[in-house]
Amino acid sequence: MRNYREEFFDFSPAIYLNCAYQGPFPRKTVAQIQEAVELKCHPDRLEADEYFDLPNRVRARIARLIGAHPTEIALTNSATQGIGIVATGLQLKAGDEVVVSAGNFPSNLFTWLHLRRLGVKVEVLKPPNGFVRPEDAAQALSPHTKVLALDWVSYIHGGRLDLAALGELVHRSGGILVVDGTQGVGALEVNVRDLPVDVLAVAAYKWLLGPYGTGFVYLHPGVRDRLDLPVVNWMSVEGSEDFESLPMEDFALVHAARVFDVPETSNFINLYALEASIEFVEDASVRAVTLHCRRLLDRLAGGLEQRGLKPSLAAQPDRQSTILSFQSGSPQATASLYERIRAKRFSVSLRQGMIRVSPYLYNTEEDIDRLLEIVE
Ligand SMILES: Cc1ncc(COP(=O)(O)O)c(C=O)c1O
Repeated sequence: MRNYREEFFDFSPAIYLNCAYQGPFPRKTVAQIQEAVELKCHPDRLEADEYFDLPNRVRARIARLIGAHPTEIALTNSATQGIGIVATGLQLKAGDEVVVSAGNFPSNLFTWLHLRRLGVKVEVLKPPNGFVRPEDAAQALSPHTKVLALDWVSYIHGGRLDLAALGELVHRSGGILVVDGTQGVGALEVNVRDLPVDVLAVAAYKWLLGPYGTGFVYLHPGVRDRLDLPVVNWMSVEGSEDFESLPMEDFALVHAARVFDVPETSNFINLYALEASIEFVEDASVRAVTLHCRRLLDRLAGGLEQRGLKPSLAAQPDRQSTILSFQSGSPQATASLYERIRAKRFSVSLRQGMIRVSPYLYNTEEDIDRLLEIVE
């Protein structure tokens, strides 16, 4: 296997097991950022075409990664923005219903809850262990349900939802499935063509190793064409390359998801970095990321069980991801174990009373064994 550790910066003395928090830049990404900095230092080298070409290159890579067409991808600055495009664009009104889960990351909660001010009924699922099974969602759906909004992989316990079953369910009752894929895309293979997913919003700063402030949203064309566009990004007006000759009375917007692109889409420093990072992920292959992380997390789960600790439900084969969490005997014991782990310079996260471990290609079995020694 390739020595991925060399392709990243040296984390020592830290042992970084926290890709679900921030994905680190590969070295080649930093080299690309330096190219972008050069352009900003010497703007005479910045060609006008690059404002259009760069977002489209990044868009094409993202589309390839998730099995979509580039016209189905809008570039955003966050998962929140992607979800907001849909939550506001659908123009829901009193009598409409939305179903979310209390286990969603706040990006996939608050814009929906905010719709209550318009009289929209927003039901919050609270399944016992924070994992939404199709039967949990089924109970909440009604003919008024317009949206079921869930996180593909839980940022808390790492459990991966059954998107096929959930999507089929909400489609049967006439609604759409909006998914936050931030903790899965880049780490787990996904093909939107094979799934009943209508919207997939992703923050790119974790498993896509991109900068903070980058992301995208996949919009199924059937949904895209139903969305209201409250703010026009001038670069999405047809013919915007020639922006001084645009018609004002009968202007047309491009017929593609990019009408929803974050304005000043061509943020060179961010997009040069994101382009290089996605190239890294593609080159390593998402499958290799999954297999490597799974091998390490299986080792962790086995070691935890031997020591009498229970790994989260993400240890179950049909719910696995590249995240695994665990708890000690009580919330206090878990908090003090977390402090001991941090004191030994391991970077992991404490989320909702669970210690969350999220390895990547740079981690080794030795990292897991050393973590287990602390748990001893
Ligand atoms: C599931 C999930 N979605 C989204 C985000 C980040 O959201 P945003 O890009 O809206 O800040 C996180 C960050 O931890 C997350 O875990």
